[in-house]
Amino acid sequence: MAKPPRPTGSGARQLKVRVKTSARRKPASTRWLQRQLNDPYVARAREQGYKSRAAFKLIELDEKHKLLKPGMRVVDLGCAPGGWLQVAARATRSTDVNPKIVGIDYLETSPVPGCIILQKDFTQDDAPDLLIEALAGHRADLVLSDMAAPTTGHKPTDHLRIVALVEMAADFALDVLAPGGTFVAKVFQGGTEQELLALLKQKFKSTFHAKPPASRKDSAETYLVAKGFKGKGL
Ligand SMILES: C[S@@+](CC[C@H](N)C(=O)[O-])C[C@H]1O[C@@H](n2cnc3c(N)ncnc32)[C@H](O)[C@@H]1O
Repeated sequence: MAKPPRPTGSGARQLKVRVKTSARRKPASTRWLQRQLNDPYVARAREQGYKSRAAFKLIELDEKHKLLKPGMRVVDLGCAPGGWLQVAARATRSTDVNPKIVGIDYLETSPVPGCIILQKDFTQDDAPDLLIEALAGHRADLVLSDMAAPTTGHKPTDHLRIVALVEMAADFALDVLAPGGTFVAKVFQGGTEQELLALLKQKFKSTFHAKPPASRKDSAETYLVAKGFKGKGL
């Protein structure tokens, strides 16, 4: 399968794992495997005990935009496998005795200390109420969404599904955020509807797009950040 790293120069950064093509593996899988094996963020995630390389996207977003603070309550939509939960729990100092982080995913997420995790499709009617119940009567200070709808290959359908998911996440954020709160959602370039942007600009003090270095340059993903929620009545 994977050949061990082969030095091509003097520095470790030039080591590259080459993956042999195989009749049993699709070319796309070979490319994915090669990219994973050569991705420094994958290696760092393993070294530092993060469940996903995605953890670094939140770390970098937080470093630049100051999203997380001790004591905050956070909702993480699309939380599996749990990298963002780990980052959020650590930064907020959430504990199992007094959990401040609530995550949801339709995939199973292995337990993360300080986090309440619901295994459920966020688009189901009862999901928002279950999340609110898990917040135990508190408003959230930060709503994160790293959800991405599975693609069908039919571009117009995929676009609509992506937009619908972000809109649902935004509606939920507008419902549960405390005044001053923040909403962060993965969007795809060309996929943030002007109508949603206009609504968020009205409801938050500042709204902008951010692409952390850990987000692959060749990916159309970027993050929509809305800070300073003005409150439900506005
Ligand atoms: C990129 S991954 C999230 C990675 C996560 N931020 C981390 O750090 O480990 C996106 C997740 O969104 C979830 N997802 C997509 N649509 C969803 C939905 N409708 N309801 C719940 N989870 C959803 C997927 O199952 C997937 O686990």
